[in-house]
Amino acid sequence: KFSKLEAEALDPIIATMARYAADPNPNKMDVSIGVYKAADGSSFMFPSVKMAKEIYNKVEPGHNYTTMSGLPEFIPVAQQTVFGDKIAGEGKLATIQTISGTGSLHMAMLILRSAGYTNFAVGTPAWSNYIPMAQHIGCTTSTYKYYDEETKTIDFESVVCAIEEASPKTVFILQTCCHNPTGADLSKNQWKTIRDLTINKDCMVLFDIAYQGFASGDKDEDAWPIRYFYEAGMEFVVCQSFSKNLGLYGERAGALHVVVQDKDSLPIVHSNMVKNFREECSFGPAYGARIVSTVGSTPEIKKVWDQDVAGVAERMVTMRRRILDTLTKLETPGKWDHVIRQTGLFWFSGLTKEQTERMISEYHIYLTQNGRVNVAGLNDANLDQFCKALDAVVRS
Ligand code: LMR
Repeated sequence: KFSKLEAEALDPIIATMARYAADPNPNKMDVSIGVYKAADGSSFMFPSVKMAKEIYNKVEPGHNYTTMSGLPEFIPVAQQTVFGDKIAGEGKLATIQTISGTGSLHMAMLILRSAGYTNFAVGTPAWSNYIPMAQHIGCTTSTYKYYDEETKTIDFESVVCAIEEASPKTVFILQTCCHNPTGADLSKNQWKTIRDLTINKDCMVLFDIAYQGFASGDKDEDAWPIRYFYEAGMEFVVCQSFSKNLGLYGERAGALHVVVQDKDSLPIVHSNMVKNFREECSFGPAYGARIVSTVGSTPEIKKVWDQDVAGVAERMVTMRRRILDTLTKLETPGKWDHVIRQTGLFWFSGLTKEQTERMISEYHIYLTQNGRVNVAGLNDANLDQFCKALDAVVRS
């Protein structure tokens, strides 16, 4: 009965993860999937999350259903985290809880499709799931160059040109900070240009904010582009994830926010979001949302969260510096200073496909196929091993 089906390839990130898991080598190293790891290489539980769980375990909230827009107390915390208290209080946000960032993107694509926005423009290189997700619901996609491999910086001319030449009803998926996979973030001036170009155009901006706080160490600062677009009275959507900035990967805690300027339209938009969620997922999952809401609504825990996030950003800066210092000491051929110019977990190393494959097959160091390195996977114990392997594959 299923003979018509053909085997599907794994997403490249997930394929690398699977290959790592299957490798019996005791010295294997995982710098692939975007998970923050502690300085000792262990998977990291944020101290703020630990504190929230202690409270939550005492309360015993039971296991009842949440609602189709998610856990009610989660919603204001999600809104305040991205937009700040002032905007969150202005009543222009239609928000639902989602199955983390991917679920948020899916719900965003559905509501945008209903509103007539059916083409998704993706800057390359991009997170591997954007295009398949848009095509999965029958939307079209277009691509433009976001990052220039030669200069190892954003090709802003190409971004501008893509916006200027976009067909009507195009959605631009833009990452707010810690660009995945390149680590190359738009500057404030570049965001200003993008706002000027999109404000009167029949297009839509979808902000993907999955690593809020990991670029500057300050969650408010990292959300600046979103607040800046809001101030101009624009309508747009925001896909938010707590997988990374609270380390709640498996709990699938995220949100979709739609900014609606017309207050009469807001309940209509929200009802569509709820309908879509009901038809696919019914009720938002409770556990992760409870942790998020406890962190965000308990002032002393919120402060700890601020410190947690600042600590992650600081460690990434330190590790990036150490990669550069080590490669400089090794006199590794080539220019490597982009490692300190890029932000967040990912370093888009520039290793070729062949070099990347050698890192994996000869040195058991698992970076993603596009040469993306999760800097958080490096630490005192393995940094030299990583840099020596990189040096070797570059030389021969
Ligand atoms: C990544 O890019 O490694 C993460 O966003 C995880 C994922 O789902 O791909």
